[in-house]
Parts: sequence; structure tokens; C-alpha cells
Amino acid sequence: MTAHISRKIEDPATYTPGFSYRHGALVCESVSLDAIASRSGTPAYVYSRAAFTSAYRTLDRAFGSLPHRIYYAVKANSNLAVLKAFARLGSSFDIVSGGELFRLRKVGVRGERIIFSGVGKTREEIREALRAHILLFNVESEAELDTLASEASKDGRAAPASIRVNPDIRAGGHPHIATGHHRHKFGIDWTEARRLYLRHKNSLWIGWRGISSHIGSQITSAEPFRRTASRLARYFVELRREGIALRSLDLGGGIGIRYTNERPLAFAEYAKALPRALTVLAKNGTEIFIEPGRSLVGNAGVLLTRVLYTKRSRGKTFVIVDAAMNDLIRPALYGATHCITPVKRRSNAGTERVDVVGPVCESGDFFVHDWPMAQVEAGDLLAIWSAGAYGFVESSNYNSRTRAAEVLVEGAKFRVVKRRETHADLIRGERT
Ligand code: LLP
Repeated sequence: MTAHISRKIEDPATYTPGFSYRHGALVCESVSLDAIASRSGTPAYVYSRAAFTSAYRTLDRAFGSLPHRIYYAVKANSNLAVLKAFARLGSSFDIVSGGELFRLRKVGVRGERIIFSGVGKTREEIREALRAHILLFNVESEAELDTLASEASKDGRAAPASIRVNPDIRAGGHPHIATGHHRHKFGIDWTEARRLYLRHKNSLWIGWRGISSHIGSQITSAEPFRRTASRLARYFVELRREGIALRSLDLGGGIGIRYTNERPLAFAEYAKALPRALTVLAKNGTEIFIEPGRSLVGNAGVLLTRVLYTKRSRGKTFVIVDAAMNDLIRPALYGATHCITPVKRRSNAGTERVDVVGPVCESGDFFVHDWPMAQVEAGDLLAIWSAGAYGFVESSNYNSRTRAAEVLVEGAKFRVVKRRETHADLIRGERT
């Protein structure tokens, strides 16, 4: 459950690029959220292209002249318009399913800009990815490696591969999103990984290209990244001594963002924290790969929702909005707190502590508890902040609710980049 918010919460408009107040009303770039709501209806996800563009460029620049490639983690926000924008920026992509591969192909991304991660790739997904000539498979088990080799042999070409090593490091904002400890299902421990690299050293069907890791998500300090990078650099050198020359070293994603009072790592601090052992490898031509998702798009989006009712009961105030846990499940699933503010500032409104909740029939359907907010009434618009990552992509049709619209803002223009679902969408594919 969300902790009682006792510390003062700063208005996210003060630190979120792409969003600000103009004449007392919230705008995304130069477009009023009110205008967007009138056109697209609510709930709607609204993304600022300038915000994620600037995040991408800042991260890219943080590496300076070190050879590096950014693989945007498609799972964080896979809207086609967002993917297309990243492709135009020069980004490469990290996928975890055949569906994500399909999306990238829809926007014309070539295989050489794609790596495939994930602990349970199916044989069909592997086959499709081989056919698409993707750059690299991040392999997570011996059984998967065998499947990959067998599919590659049918294709008559070695599959480009790297092993996702589990570096046994605890990190991550919530138990569900920590992945780098030996008790987690992810990756392969070093002793085993080393054995597999050697087993396939002269294989016809596996072509070793790199070594990879991903230790978790919403990590706000440099230390776990530094330790992971130095372990990987050590393994890299050890493999080279065994005659296995790799080209890339992948540090995964995981850089945290500010939701309320966190003090996340600036990209420059992240890059500065990389150990010398790694920068030496990079200076000698090894490419550093990273797979960021949240840190590129998280702060670049809000979920726009309208107040349906307010309800006062036994000293509690409930603000019932038209978005629900099916639209944004992070509070229910990870105990995440997303700031919520009214879209219009009313000068005479007092502040009260409220629970902002959705219409779904579960007590788990809440956004915040005891949240200090200016008084609102039915019809008011609210912004649920930092919803650009793991927001829409985790939405569902629970309670037979149609999924929200998605809107992309660019300067003074905006486009609905996914229309709101209709009732017909709800029953597509069903039969009586
Ligand atoms: N690479 C791999 C292999 C991953 O599994 C992930 C995220 C990423 C990269 C991107 O990580 P990021 O930079 O976004 O932290 N739904 C959860 C987060 C799940 C993260 C899963 N893996 C949430 O809403 O907090």
C-alpha cells in the first residue's frame, strides 16, 4: 500500500521537462491539457516528444566519446509513434517478445538495431528474430541456447549471442523489479555462463558477440551499476584469455526516475560511475550497450483523468476519477506513488488530504491514499504524473473497461497516436 505521505511533496511541474503551468493551467509543451481532454476524452496518456528526445540526447552525450549504443527498452512504452521517434533519434532497441519485434518492423526498424532479451523466448519467437537478422540474442539458460543453436542450424547461419550473466547484486526499487540477485529467475551465474561460452567456443551455430546483464529497475544510486560493470568487465577479460573475443558489454537498463521525493542519478553521474576497467575496454573498441526504458520515457508522460465524483465519509474524502487500476496498475502492483495535481490551479481552493481512486470494484483500485491536494470537484481534470513508462503498456480491459487514448505532443501540436478503444474492440475475437 502507498505509505502515508507526510513529507512535503514538490509540484512535479517544477522538475518535469515538457510540462509546466501557464496562466494557472497545466500545459504539455505548448498545448493545454484541457484542450487535449476536450478532443481525446479521458482517461488519456499524454506524452511530450521534447521530453523524451531531450532525455535520449542527454544520455547519449553522457558517454562522450566512449563507443556506446542505446537500446531503448520497448517494454516501457511501445506506442508506434514513440518507437518511430526513438528510431529517428538514432536509438537501437531492446525487445522481449515477438510482439515487440512486430511493432519495430511496423515502424521500419532494421534487425541490426535490435537485441532480444528475456528468460522465456519461444522457438517461434527465436525463429522470427533470426529471420529478421537481429543483432544479438541475450541468452538466459542452457536450454534456450540449445534451442537457439538448433534454429540457427536450420537457417544455416550462426546466431549472434551473448549471455545475460546474473551478477548476484541486489538492486531495484521494489522486490518485483529487482532481477540481479542469484535467487531471481534471470540470467545465468558466472560459473555456468563461463562453461557455456566455452562449450560453444567453436560452435557452428552460436557466434559469441557479447556479455550482458540487467540487475533491476528504478535504481537510484550508482553503486550497483558500478559493481555490475566491474564484474562484467572482469568476466569479459577472462573470456578473452580463453580465446573468446567479445565485441560488446551490455549493462542493461534500470536507471531510476523521480516520482515524488527520490533523488535519481543524473545520466552524467551514471556514466561517470562506470569503472575504469570498463572504460579501458571501451577505449580499446568494446562497445558499451545500455537498455534504458523508464529513464527515457517515465517523466515524459502523464495520465490525464477527470473527476467523476467526490465522496466524504467519516472524515475521509474520496476523489473518484475516470481512470482506474486497469489504466495504471503501478500503485496496486508495486506500491508506487505517482504525484497527482489538478490541471487548473484555483486560487481560492483549500488543501485537503484525499484518496484518489478509480471505478473498478476492488479496494486495490487506488492511485494515492491521504494525498494532499487542492480541493477539486466533479468535472475537474487531474494529471497523474510520471506515467510515461510502464503505464499504458501495463493496462488491461479489466471490468470490461476500454483502454485509454494515447496522445503525443510536439510543440504546439498534438496527435492522438492511439485511439481510445470502443466496445467493439472489447469483444474482438470472442464468440458465443
Ligand atoms: N532490459 C531488460 C532485460 C529488462 O528486463 C528491463 C526492464 C529493461 C532493460 C528496462 O529497465 P528500465 O530502464 O526501464 O528500468 N513494470 C515495472 C518495471 C519492470 C521492469 C522490467 N524490466 C514498473 O512499472 O516499475
